[in-house]
Amino acid sequence: MSAAMSNKDRFLAACRREVVDRPPIWIMRQAGRYMSSYRALRERAHFLEICRRPELSLEATMMAVDQLGIDAAILFSDILVPLTPMGLEVAFDEGGPRLPPVRDRAGIDRLATDVTGELGYVADAVALIRKTLDQRPDPLPLLGFSGSPFTLATYAIEGGTTKNKHALRKMIWDHPDALHALLDKMATVVLPYCRMQLDAGADAVQLFDTWGGLLTESEWREFSMPYTQRVMSGLRASHPHVPIVHYALEAAHLTNVFAELPCDVLSVDHKEPLSLIRDKTGGRYALQGNVEPGVMTCSTTAIAKAVEACVRGYGRTPGHIVNLGHGITPDASVAGARAFVEVAKATGAALWG
Ligand code: CP3
Repeated sequence: MSAAMSNKDRFLAACRREVVDRPPIWIMRQAGRYMSSYRALRERAHFLEICRRPELSLEATMMAVDQLGIDAAILFSDILVPLTPMGLEVAFDEGGPRLPPVRDRAGIDRLATDVTGELGYVADAVALIRKTLDQRPDPLPLLGFSGSPFTLATYAIEGGTTKNKHALRKMIWDHPDALHALLDKMATVVLPYCRMQLDAGADAVQLFDTWGGLLTESEWREFSMPYTQRVMSGLRASHPHVPIVHYALEAAHLTNVFAELPCDVLSVDHKEPLSLIRDKTGGRYALQGNVEPGVMTCSTTAIAKAVEACVRGYGRTPGHIVNLGHGITPDASVAGARAFVEVAKATGAALWG
């Protein structure tokens, strides 16, 4: 029977693949529209205003902490936030994010990269959340995050969320040098942006390469990997003990390449069992995930079954952080999310007890 651990120790130990009393759990996009309290906050403030005002970002982050019983808090913000000071004003409307697309060398050359100063409100939000968490008994660990250079570049090229990503394809095939110039700029922004969050009090940082899975292995090696590696290696150098989490969606075909990344945790979707991913990566990474998010719209019985299978499927081996394979959706429920957390905790404690 492992002794009960503090919330911070449990999360950090899981990231380092050390023995825990039970695997920690949090939910990707845990503060969001499925919560009535979040919808009420959105009545008072636009999404971007919540991101820009530290006291509102704090309020959103703490909703998940207070309502769900999760084991880690995550900064409430968005991966697209750094694009605005770069010169691409991001707007959010009913259809999701929109920004002016950049598709040529001149547009890329115009983008600013010295933008950390204009993102000071993100550091302020992290510091405020950190302080608030620390005022409570057994403070939760806090995750900071950024989009990966490739995923940010994809949004910049497409001008928002698109289905076929043909503008990106055109860059890959017709203008690879321009794409590399854009990726270089994104990496130049992302590294100090992550460092700023860590210096403000984040305990770990997650890089979201949400669109990385669109690429073949050789494309990912050329267009995503070197830039993500540059960010990770830079973080390792400046913050050697801070866990780095890498997330990708629909990227099971890239698992072998992820096994070369200088990070601690691979956050994965539901397409492959965690035990298989662990084998493919030589047990050298902690794994975060990987319940299919649609389950969160089903009965609590179904949710319980899915999360129990996930925890037991990983088994009594160090290095599991229970989560979804992608973000929780607006049609999920708080009751379902609570059940997810409770069953994950109980199953994990029974497994490790
Ligand atoms: O987990 C959390 O609670 C932290 C907050 C968080 C948000 N976005 C809040 C958000 C995090 C970690 C993100 C990351 C993010 N944002 C990603 C990577 C993870 C993933 O889902 O793949 C991506 C690709 C984005 C870009 C983005 N932001 C899109 C495509 C959208 C529109 C789709 C949608 O869900 O509305 C957003 C908006 C967004 N980001 C919302 C929230 C709560 C909804 C905004 C609203 O209130 O209307």
